[in-house]
Amino acid sequence: MFSAGHPVWENHGMLPNFVLVGFMGCGKTTVGRRLASIAGHRFVDADDLIVKNQGKSISAIFAESGEEAFRQIEERIIRDLVGVAGIVLSTGGGAILREANRESLKKIGIIIWLDAEPDALFERAMRSGRRPLLQTDNPRQAFDTLLAARRSIYESLADLRFDSTGVDHDEVSRKVLDQAMRHQAHRP
Ligand code: S3P
Repeated sequence: MFSAGHPVWENHGMLPNFVLVGFMGCGKTTVGRRLASIAGHRFVDADDLIVKNQGKSISAIFAESGEEAFRQIEERIIRDLVGVAGIVLSTGGGAILREANRESLKKIGIIIWLDAEPDALFERAMRSGRRPLLQTDNPRQAFDTLLAARRSIYESLADLRFDSTGVDHDEVSRKVLDQAMRHQAHRP
């Protein structure tokens, strides 16, 4: 962990953006908020921007217009963030599906994959009851299918991976900042 006197740490102008990717329930929003606060960055949640932009909930967008329409809006919202500095961006779990989004996310900042054991992810993802892709007769099956299809995409896209199973969100946030800064320092 960087101490308060670390020169890079003190100069916020040098801190890159951080992009959090990962499956529903991995803790992107909570970790993202804390990471933003310790990095002196602004926290941006792509799903929140979509909700504000559309004036309705994610569930309502899925129910009224379908997933494809949601993905179109998501792509536009993410593209609009390219070039914005001083942010920690939390993305929806499926944002990595589109090539256009993967390209935008790479331009936005260091990509951090928050991972966890499947059982922990499932339990957390089901908690809010607001995730349309899990509103099925067999949510665990839907969850397993989506996770299996996405795992390799998170893996190939991310600069860094963190397992948050059983780890306190504050600790994850500190580790993410520390590792991300080391990663940045070693970039060509
Ligand atoms: C989705 C994840 C959700 C939200 C939408 C679709 C997905 O975000 O974007 O329900 O495809 O995994 P969270 O990962 O924040 O739950």
